[in-house]
Amino acid sequence: MRILIHKNYEDVSHWSAEYLAHKINAHHAASDKPFVLGLPTGSSPIGTYQRLVELYREGKVSFKNVVTFNMDEYVGIPEDHAESYHYFMHYHLFNHVDIPKENIHILNGNAADLEAECREYENAIKSYGGIEFFLGGIGPDGHIAFNEPGSSLSSLTRVKTLTYDTIVANSRFFDNDLDKVPKMALTVGVATVMAAREVLIIIPGYSKARALRQVVEEGINHMWTVSMFQLHPKCIIVCDDAATMELRVATVKYFKDIEKL
Ligand code: GLP
Repeated sequence: MRILIHKNYEDVSHWSAEYLAHKINAHHAASDKPFVLGLPTGSSPIGTYQRLVELYREGKVSFKNVVTFNMDEYVGIPEDHAESYHYFMHYHLFNHVDIPKENIHILNGNAADLEAECREYENAIKSYGGIEFFLGGIGPDGHIAFNEPGSSLSSLTRVKTLTYDTIVANSRFFDNDLDKVPKMALTVGVATVMAAREVLIIIPGYSKARALRQVVEEGINHMWTVSMFQLHPKCIIVCDDAATMELRVATVKYFKDIEKL
Protein backbone atom coordinates (compact mmCIF):
# COMPACT_ATOMS: atom_id res chain seq x y z
CA MET A 1 0.00 0.00 0.00
CA ARG A 2 1.36 3.44 -0.93
CA ILE A 3 0.61 6.31 1.45
CA LEU A 4 0.96 9.75 -0.12
CA ILE A 5 0.92 12.64 2.35
CA HIS A 6 0.18 15.99 0.76
CA LYS A 7 0.23 19.41 2.41
CA ASN A 8 -3.47 20.13 2.06
CA TYR A 9 -6.78 19.20 0.46
CA GLU A 10 -6.02 21.10 -2.74
CA ASP A 11 -2.84 19.13 -3.33
CA VAL A 12 -4.67 15.86 -2.54
CA SER A 13 -7.32 16.74 -5.13
CA HIS A 14 -4.87 17.82 -7.81
CA TRP A 15 -2.65 14.80 -7.45
CA SER A 16 -5.61 12.36 -7.41
CA ALA A 17 -7.27 13.89 -10.47
CA GLU A 18 -4.07 14.02 -12.44
CA TYR A 19 -3.19 10.43 -11.54
CA LEU A 20 -6.64 9.22 -12.57
CA ALA A 21 -6.54 11.19 -15.85
CA HIS A 22 -3.15 9.66 -16.56
CA LYS A 23 -4.59 6.17 -15.94
CA ILE A 24 -7.54 6.82 -18.26
CA ASN A 25 -5.19 8.05 -20.98
CA ALA A 26 -2.72 5.19 -20.53
CA HIS A 27 -5.56 2.67 -20.94
CA HIS A 28 -6.17 3.89 -24.52
CA ALA A 29 -9.86 3.42 -23.93
CA ALA A 30 -12.11 2.69 -26.89
CA SER A 31 -15.77 1.72 -27.17
CA ASP A 32 -14.78 -1.95 -27.18
CA LYS A 33 -12.17 -1.38 -24.45
CA PRO A 34 -13.70 1.06 -21.96
CA PHE A 35 -11.96 2.23 -18.81
CA VAL A 36 -14.18 0.89 -16.02
CA LEU A 37 -14.12 3.29 -13.10
CA GLY A 38 -15.63 3.02 -9.60
CA LEU A 39 -16.56 6.36 -8.02
CA PRO A 40 -17.41 7.72 -4.56
CA THR A 41 -19.49 10.61 -3.28
CA GLY A 42 -18.94 12.72 -0.15
CA SER A 43 -16.98 15.91 0.37
CA SER A 44 -13.57 14.20 0.05
CA PRO A 45 -13.69 13.66 -3.75
CA ILE A 46 -15.27 17.03 -4.67
CA GLY A 47 -11.90 18.73 -5.28
CA THR A 48 -10.77 15.76 -7.38
CA TYR A 49 -13.92 16.01 -9.50
CA GLN A 50 -13.39 19.76 -9.92
CA ARG A 51 -9.85 19.19 -11.14
CA LEU A 52 -11.00 16.38 -13.48
CA VAL A 53 -13.54 18.76 -15.03
CA GLU A 54 -10.75 21.31 -15.54
CA LEU A 55 -8.55 18.66 -17.15
CA TYR A 56 -11.44 17.71 -19.43
CA ARG A 57 -11.95 21.38 -20.42
CA GLU A 58 -8.23 21.72 -21.11
CA GLY A 59 -8.53 18.74 -23.49
CA LYS A 60 -6.29 16.59 -21.30
CA VAL A 61 -8.76 13.77 -20.61
CA SER A 62 -11.97 12.44 -22.12
CA PHE A 63 -14.71 10.32 -20.52
CA LYS A 64 -16.16 9.17 -23.83
CA ASN A 65 -15.00 5.61 -23.30
CA VAL A 66 -15.18 5.59 -19.51
CA VAL A 67 -17.83 3.41 -17.87
CA THR A 68 -18.62 4.29 -14.26
CA PHE A 69 -20.06 2.41 -11.29
CA ASN A 70 -20.84 4.44 -8.21
CA MET A 71 -20.22 3.01 -4.77
CA ASP A 72 -23.54 3.59 -3.12
CA GLU A 73 -26.91 5.31 -2.94
CA TYR A 74 -29.48 6.01 -0.23
CA VAL A 75 -32.66 3.97 -0.16
CA GLY A 76 -35.92 5.82 -0.64
CA ILE A 77 -34.98 9.34 -1.71
CA PRO A 78 -35.83 10.54 -5.23
CA GLU A 79 -32.97 10.67 -7.75
CA ASP A 80 -33.50 14.41 -8.17
CA HIS A 81 -33.27 15.04 -4.40
CA ALA A 82 -30.33 17.40 -3.81
CA GLU A 83 -28.73 14.89 -1.42
CA SER A 84 -29.14 11.79 -3.56
CA TYR A 85 -25.90 10.40 -4.92
CA HIS A 86 -27.42 10.48 -8.42
CA TYR A 87 -27.80 14.24 -8.06
CA PHE A 88 -24.35 14.64 -6.49
CA MET A 89 -22.56 12.83 -9.31
CA HIS A 90 -24.29 14.76 -12.08
CA TYR A 91 -23.80 18.07 -10.27
CA HIS A 92 -20.09 17.57 -9.55
CA LEU A 93 -18.90 15.54 -12.52
CA PHE A 94 -21.16 13.96 -15.14
CA ASN A 95 -22.89 17.17 -16.30
CA HIS A 96 -19.53 18.77 -17.07
CA VAL A 97 -17.73 16.04 -19.04
CA ASP A 98 -18.35 14.00 -22.19
CA ILE A 99 -19.44 10.74 -20.56
CA PRO A 100 -22.33 9.09 -22.46
CA LYS A 101 -25.42 8.66 -20.29
CA GLU A 102 -25.52 4.91 -20.92
CA ASN A 103 -22.02 4.52 -19.46
CA ILE A 104 -23.14 5.74 -16.01
CA HIS A 105 -24.21 3.17 -13.42
CA ILE A 106 -25.58 4.18 -10.03
CA LEU A 107 -27.53 1.85 -7.74
CA ASN A 108 -31.26 2.50 -7.76
CA GLY A 109 -32.33 3.06 -4.16
CA ASN A 110 -35.97 3.12 -5.28
CA ALA A 111 -35.97 -0.27 -7.03
CA ALA A 112 -39.00 -2.44 -6.24
CA ASP A 113 -36.68 -5.34 -5.39
CA LEU A 114 -33.57 -3.93 -3.74
CA GLU A 115 -31.82 -7.27 -3.45
CA ALA A 116 -32.30 -7.98 -7.15
CA GLU A 117 -30.96 -4.49 -7.89
CA CYS A 118 -27.78 -5.33 -5.96
CA ARG A 119 -27.34 -8.69 -7.70
CA GLU A 120 -27.80 -7.08 -11.11
CA TYR A 121 -25.23 -4.41 -10.23
CA GLU A 122 -22.60 -7.06 -9.50
CA ASN A 123 -23.50 -8.76 -12.80
CA ALA A 124 -23.21 -5.49 -14.69
CA ILE A 125 -19.71 -4.95 -13.26
CA LYS A 126 -18.77 -8.49 -14.31
CA SER A 127 -20.16 -7.93 -17.81
CA TYR A 128 -17.50 -5.22 -18.28
CA GLY A 129 -14.74 -7.52 -17.07
CA GLY A 130 -14.54 -5.95 -13.59
CA ILE A 131 -13.46 -2.54 -12.39
CA GLU A 132 -10.11 -1.20 -13.55
CA PHE A 133 -9.78 1.60 -11.03
CA PHE A 134 -11.84 2.34 -7.92
CA LEU A 135 -11.67 5.81 -6.43
CA GLY A 136 -12.85 5.79 -2.80
CA GLY A 137 -13.40 7.85 0.28
CA ILE A 138 -14.06 6.85 3.88
CA GLY A 139 -16.21 7.91 6.79
CA PRO A 140 -14.64 8.98 10.13
CA ASP A 141 -15.26 5.44 11.42
CA GLY A 142 -13.22 3.99 8.56
CA HIS A 143 -16.15 2.78 6.47
CA ILE A 144 -15.62 2.50 2.74
CA ALA A 145 -18.73 3.08 0.60
CA PHE A 146 -21.43 2.22 3.17
CA ASN A 147 -19.58 -0.78 4.60
CA GLU A 148 -20.15 0.20 8.18
CA PRO A 149 -18.08 -1.14 11.11
CA GLY A 150 -18.61 -4.89 11.45
CA SER A 151 -19.39 -5.38 7.75
CA SER A 152 -18.11 -8.59 6.24
CA LEU A 153 -14.77 -7.99 4.62
CA SER A 154 -15.82 -10.36 1.83
CA SER A 155 -19.16 -8.61 1.22
CA LEU A 156 -20.63 -7.84 -2.20
CA THR A 157 -23.24 -5.26 -3.23
CA ARG A 158 -26.18 -5.32 -0.82
CA VAL A 159 -28.67 -3.39 1.31
CA LYS A 160 -27.20 -1.91 4.51
CA THR A 161 -28.65 -0.20 7.55
CA LEU A 162 -26.66 2.92 8.39
CA THR A 163 -25.06 3.28 11.80
CA TYR A 164 -25.95 6.09 14.17
CA ASP A 165 -22.45 7.59 13.63
CA THR A 166 -22.97 7.79 9.87
CA ILE A 167 -26.48 9.20 10.24
CA VAL A 168 -25.08 11.92 12.53
CA ALA A 169 -22.12 12.58 10.16
CA ASN A 170 -24.42 12.84 7.13
CA SER A 171 -27.10 14.91 8.88
CA ARG A 172 -25.08 18.04 7.97
CA PHE A 173 -26.47 17.52 4.45
CA PHE A 174 -30.06 17.16 5.74
CA ASP A 175 -30.53 20.42 7.73
CA ASN A 176 -28.81 18.74 10.71
CA ASP A 177 -32.05 16.82 11.24
CA LEU A 178 -31.37 13.15 12.02
CA ASP A 179 -34.96 12.24 11.07
CA LYS A 180 -34.40 13.44 7.51
CA VAL A 181 -31.32 11.24 6.91
CA PRO A 182 -32.20 7.98 5.14
CA LYS A 183 -31.60 4.99 7.41
CA MET A 184 -30.73 2.51 4.69
CA ALA A 185 -28.52 2.45 1.64
CA LEU A 186 -27.42 0.20 -1.20
CA THR A 187 -23.67 -0.22 -1.33
CA VAL A 188 -20.98 -2.12 -3.12
CA GLY A 189 -19.27 -4.56 -0.75
CA VAL A 190 -15.71 -4.49 0.54
CA ALA A 191 -14.95 -7.40 -1.81
CA THR A 192 -16.45 -5.49 -4.76
CA VAL A 193 -13.92 -2.69 -4.24
CA MET A 194 -11.12 -5.15 -3.42
CA ALA A 195 -11.70 -6.83 -6.80
CA ALA A 196 -10.77 -3.65 -8.67
CA ARG A 197 -7.37 -3.83 -10.29
CA GLU A 198 -6.30 -0.58 -8.67
CA VAL A 199 -7.75 1.43 -5.77
CA LEU A 200 -7.11 5.04 -4.74
CA ILE A 201 -8.62 6.15 -1.43
CA ILE A 202 -8.81 9.86 -0.64
CA ILE A 203 -8.47 10.53 3.11
CA PRO A 204 -8.25 14.27 3.86
CA GLY A 205 -8.82 16.22 7.06
CA TYR A 206 -8.49 15.79 10.80
CA SER A 207 -11.87 14.05 11.13
CA LYS A 208 -10.33 11.03 9.35
CA ALA A 209 -7.19 10.90 11.51
CA ARG A 210 -8.29 7.95 13.67
CA ALA A 211 -9.38 5.96 10.64
CA LEU A 212 -6.08 6.67 8.88
CA ARG A 213 -4.18 5.41 11.92
CA GLN A 214 -6.20 2.19 11.88
CA VAL A 215 -5.55 1.50 8.22
CA VAL A 216 -1.87 2.46 8.28
CA GLU A 217 -0.61 1.33 11.68
CA GLU A 218 -3.06 -1.29 12.93
CA GLY A 219 -4.14 -4.68 11.61
CA ILE A 220 -7.03 -5.70 9.40
CA ASN A 221 -10.24 -5.38 11.36
CA HIS A 222 -13.88 -5.49 10.29
CA MET A 223 -14.59 -2.56 12.65
CA TRP A 224 -12.54 -0.35 10.28
CA THR A 225 -13.50 -1.79 6.93
CA VAL A 226 -10.98 0.30 4.97
CA SER A 227 -8.20 -1.61 6.77
CA MET A 228 -8.92 -4.54 4.40
CA PHE A 229 -7.07 -2.61 1.70
CA GLN A 230 -3.77 -3.57 3.32
CA LEU A 231 -4.33 -6.79 1.38
CA HIS A 232 -4.99 -5.11 -1.96
CA PRO A 233 -2.16 -5.64 -4.48
CA LYS A 234 -2.35 -2.05 -5.78
CA CYS A 235 -3.83 0.45 -3.37
CA ILE A 236 -2.83 4.08 -2.87
CA ILE A 237 -4.02 6.21 0.03
CA VAL A 238 -3.86 9.93 -0.69
CA CYS A 239 -4.12 12.01 2.50
CA ASP A 240 -3.12 15.42 3.80
CA ASP A 241 -1.09 16.52 6.82
CA ALA A 242 -4.26 17.09 8.88
CA ALA A 243 -5.30 13.45 8.48
CA THR A 244 -1.93 12.24 9.81
CA MET A 245 -2.43 13.79 13.27
CA GLU A 246 -2.90 10.40 14.97
CA LEU A 247 0.00 8.69 13.19
CA ARG A 248 3.36 8.23 14.86
CA VAL A 249 5.98 10.80 13.82
CA ALA A 250 8.17 7.94 12.57
CA THR A 251 5.34 6.62 10.36
CA VAL A 252 4.79 10.03 8.77
CA LYS A 253 8.54 10.51 8.21
CA TYR A 254 8.82 7.02 6.73
CA PHE A 255 6.12 7.53 4.11
CA LYS A 256 7.18 11.10 3.33
CA ASP A 257 10.71 9.86 2.81
CA ILE A 258 9.88 6.99 0.47
CA GLU A 259 7.40 9.01 -1.60
CA LYS A 260 9.38 12.29 -1.67
CA LEU A 261 6.42 14.39 -2.84
C1 GLP B 1 -20.67 8.56 3.08
C2 GLP B 1 -20.42 7.75 1.81
C3 GLP B 1 -18.97 7.29 1.73
C4 GLP B 1 -18.06 8.47 1.96
C5 GLP B 1 -18.33 9.04 3.33
C6 GLP B 1 -17.40 10.16 3.73
O1 GLP B 1 -20.84 7.76 4.18
N1 GLP B 1 -21.25 6.60 1.71
O2 GLP B 1 -18.74 6.69 0.47
O3 GLP B 1 -16.73 8.07 1.83
O4 GLP B 1 -19.67 9.51 3.34
O5 GLP B 1 -17.80 11.37 3.23
P1 GLP B 1 -16.94 12.68 3.33
O6 GLP B 1 -15.95 12.57 2.24
O7 GLP B 1 -17.93 13.77 3.11
O8 GLP B 1 -16.32 12.73 4.67
